[in-house]
Amino acid sequence: MVKFYMSSEQEKEKSKKYYPLPELSENARVKSMDEYKKMWKKSIEDPDAFWAEEAKMVDWFEPYDKVWIQESKYDDNFVGQWFVGGKLNVVYNCIDRWIEKGYGDEIALIWIGEDDTEKKYTYKTLKDDVCKAANALKELGVEKGDRVCIWLPMVADLAIVMLACARIGAIHSIVFGGFSAESVKDRIDDSDCKLLIVADQTRRAGKAKPMKDNLEGIIEECSSIEHVCIVKVTGADTYSYDKDVDFTALMDKQSTDCECEVMDAEDPLFILYTSGTTGKPKGVVHTTAGYLVYGMSTNKYVWDYSCLIDLKGVKPKDRDVWYCTADIGWITGHTQIIYSPLALGAISIMYEGVPTWPHKGRFWELCQKYNVTHFYTAPTAIRALMKFGDEEVKKWDLSKLKMLGTVGEVCNWPEWKWYWTVVGNGSTGEKPVGRPIVDSYWQTETGSYMMVNFGAITPMKPGSCTFPFFGVNPKLLDEEGDEVEKTNTQAYFAYDRPWPGLMRSVWGDHPRFVNTYLKKFDGHYFTGDYAMIDDEGYYFILGRSDDVIKVSGHRLGSAEVESAINSHPKVAESAVVPYPHPVKGSTIFAYVTLMTGVDPSDDLKKDIQKHTRKVAGPAVLPEIIMFTEAVPKTRSGKIMRRILKAIATKQDIGNTMTLANPEVVENLIEEREKLGEIKF
Ligand code: PRX
Repeated sequence: MVKFYMSSEQEKEKSKKYYPLPELSENARVKSMDEYKKMWKKSIEDPDAFWAEEAKMVDWFEPYDKVWIQESKYDDNFVGQWFVGGKLNVVYNCIDRWIEKGYGDEIALIWIGEDDTEKKYTYKTLKDDVCKAANALKELGVEKGDRVCIWLPMVADLAIVMLACARIGAIHSIVFGGFSAESVKDRIDDSDCKLLIVADQTRRAGKAKPMKDNLEGIIEECSSIEHVCIVKVTGADTYSYDKDVDFTALMDKQSTDCECEVMDAEDPLFILYTSGTTGKPKGVVHTTAGYLVYGMSTNKYVWDYSCLIDLKGVKPKDRDVWYCTADIGWITGHTQIIYSPLALGAISIMYEGVPTWPHKGRFWELCQKYNVTHFYTAPTAIRALMKFGDEEVKKWDLSKLKMLGTVGEVCNWPEWKWYWTVVGNGSTGEKPVGRPIVDSYWQTETGSYMMVNFGAITPMKPGSCTFPFFGVNPKLLDEEGDEVEKTNTQAYFAYDRPWPGLMRSVWGDHPRFVNTYLKKFDGHYFTGDYAMIDDEGYYFILGRSDDVIKVSGHRLGSAEVESAINSHPKVAESAVVPYPHPVKGSTIFAYVTLMTGVDPSDDLKKDIQKHTRKVAGPAVLPEIIMFTEAVPKTRSGKIMRRILKAIATKQDIGNTMTLANPEVVENLIEEREKLGEIKF
């Protein structure tokens, strides 16, 4: 967690409570904190009844027999099962049912390109494109249960092909566009994907960059791949490979009719790889019904946007407009741009570009132009935009905004305050009131929000994700797994039971799922995070307890970054730790040991950085490199990152008794002194 120096005046401001505009609660689904508390208690005492009620939002092909199979303990065979026996299709719920209910000509999704090209999809036109893509996939031999890897930038086709997969029951595995071709290969191999869908090029801040060409020499090694489908983004020529298919042309000649596959509640919907503590990314598996119900339920109650599920006196065309700025390559984009808003019948905005191009007020311009009512972004984006000053925001009419939100890391006081006052126009003073900032805490593994304030009703505390969502029972535990009773004390953060949106497995490695999440604290799902509770019951997330590093909200595993650095021919070994960064939250501080006889130099640092980005992707940059003779290790050879973190940030290094090589520490401290103050 980044710590900012605060004056006592700021400390006082920060520790106040902030209130949502009172008018928001009038029409809210949950109207008061008392109602929230009652509903939460019911959801914990009788989860079957609670989730059965929520599952009514879904149109089922066949009803389920049982809401939940409650396992008596989390042993090696633990598999969550929800809405057992039910049959459904997620895309039917996102698109077809709205057409059948008479809303076919209403807007479902608005895609906006960097250059202001706009594609406004109604439910009908969205269905047409999704069916064409689905038929194209079928023509290429894709069947229910097959895995399809999608490596695309934020073009509209990304939404179309993921929905096309879900329509025919293929399991999509989307890889973030900022990762490298090697990462794509690892993920394809891990889940034996039959197809890869990739863009010819990407557009980024006005420039075209290669995408398909990066695969040359790499994709040929993926034995499971039958076709490489190219989506035309710029129309540029790419190197040719005999498994290439012009997907854009293939789609164009398909029919707009394609039946939705009947899926079992527990059939996998998608795999999304995420970083863990080892070098091998985990394929997080989400299934059909539980993920859908949980995502819909969280979004409906937390944001209260008017949508087709429950119009509450609003005409379909006057629905609220939801804009989530995430990339679909991450879980936030999956759940918050596509599946939950579409299934609820909200209008969802998908933007291709970066927040700062073609100008620094791009987000706010889009909010004005599309009458955005609910705006959801990440603290790192807020910090980046905050730097440009208030004028860039004030130029735009943001009066339609009702709620703001954040996700991905702690929203610290400086950016929280700016978001509240400058973007939200919230008041300060003794009882500050304004547009709520929804602080949503969740993970790739959890499907949707776990700890979150209900926008319309929850009094906020800056930096706190407040209280649990329905059905979530958080626990703060010590090393032995006993509950930590004391307030304001750092503890391990866990939940005492499963919920419908919980991941079901790690693809191809069920024991890894059980061992990573369910074994550390018996009977609990462990998040990997530290948290604390304050005297008023507000929860604060205090950062990761493991080797995951969050850079600009992107989740990177230390071991993955290290293996990319280590693949440089002049590097013998490396160890990376997070280092506080004013915009990115954290950046990567790398300790690098060179091969014998190699001289350290600034040019070599640059070369290592370039190499790492090439191997792991442009999103992975070891921004600070310190050359060192060796790194501290335990007797079993494990890198002691705790000590490296302390040295990087010039903190007390604590106990070094368990080190196999304590002598290296002095040298590291000296080298760190020489590096001096790190400026960004
Ligand atoms: O450390 C927590 C942090 O992000 C981790 C999950 O990352 P990822 O799977 O990439 O999902 C991010 C988007 C859902 C968590 O273990 N995190 C996420 N949201 C918050 C947060 N930390 C503090 N506050 C949050 N609101």
